[in-house]
Amino acid sequence: MSTKILVINGPNLNMLGIRQPEIYGRASYQDLLDMISKEADRLGVEVSFFQSNHEGDLVDAIQQAYFDKIDGIIINPAAYTHTSVALLDAVKAVQIPTVEVHISDPDTREDFRHVSYIRAACTGTIRGHGLEGYLEALRLLASA
Ligand code: DQA
Repeated sequence: MSTKILVINGPNLNMLGIRQPEIYGRASYQDLLDMISKEADRLGVEVSFFQSNHEGDLVDAIQQAYFDKIDGIIINPAAYTHTSVALLDAVKAVQIPTVEVHISDPDTREDFRHVSYIRAACTGTIRGHGLEGYLEALRLLASA
């Protein structure tokens, strides 16, 4: 049975390519999914995707990962990184190895982006590596 990885993206990441391209680049959300799928094929892992602009839906997706026997989660909680105890608690609840990814480096941006609630429950954090950060997270989880 192959390793099952779920990639979760939070609010406004569906707007990649349109949204602040000077920070997030010109590739679209679909381009991101295509890049990850290609790398997953190369690594021989099974990948699925979820994106939502709603905090509760993201909590539901993390809980569902437990029932779907997902082996690893890659999550970019976007703005909820800096506000959501609910996402932290969800990752703690399911105890699935989870890597936090940020396209930009929030630590070098506004002060309010310096806090990550979810980080305490994650096995790793990759930030500031652009879309490539998702591929690095995939490689980390595939080799775990
Ligand atoms: C982000 C950084 C967050 O601060 C921001 O709210 C996002 C995207 C990133 O990928 O760099 O929406 O998570």
